[in-house]
Amino acid sequence: MEISVDVNGQSYRAEVEPRLLLVHFLRDTLGLTGTHWGCDTSNCGVCVAWLDDVPVKSCTVLAVMADGHRVRTVEGLETADGLDTVQRGFTECHGLQCGFCTPGMMMTARWLLDHNPDPSEDEIREAISGQICRCTGYENIVRSIRWAAEHEATAVESGVDTGKGVPA
Ligand code: FES
Ligand code: FES
Repeated sequence: MEISVDVNGQSYRAEVEPRLLLVHFLRDTLGLTGTHWGCDTSNCGVCVAWLDDVPVKSCTVLAVMADGHRVRTVEGLETADGLDTVQRGFTECHGLQCGFCTPGMMMTARWLLDHNPDPSEDEIREAISGQICRCTGYENIVRSIRWAAEHEATAVESGVDTGKGVPA
């Protein structure tokens, strides 16, 4: 089947098998390997990307279901102005070790902060509860997301355009 998908603001047209999963379309067809693939059983959450501005586990979505829709992946977080605040937070607070869960964590974090700019630790933990980190014990991930929230609040107060929530 031929599908047409907007990924990170760029249009792609491709011939895909009806059974192809979105995660494999992103990684293997488009070469966007920032979206990771861990379990294929909807458990680990490393494959989280946005489908029309909503985080989804891309191993649970067929590529054909994205036909005519917008997808945002971790590659779309960075803008011409630089890294997204969430990416900077993970860097500043050591929110990653092996990095395998990190793209999915950051996509969920970006969505959370777009909808709740000042989340509590419990709200952050709930937001990422469908995603597994095998390395960090989650402390630094939560701290990274709080760092991003606090820095975006400061940027808003100083009138700086953070570009948050704007699909690339
Ligand atoms: S690869 Fe999608 S949830 Fe694990
Ligand atoms: S940083 Fe290794 S799985 Fe999360």
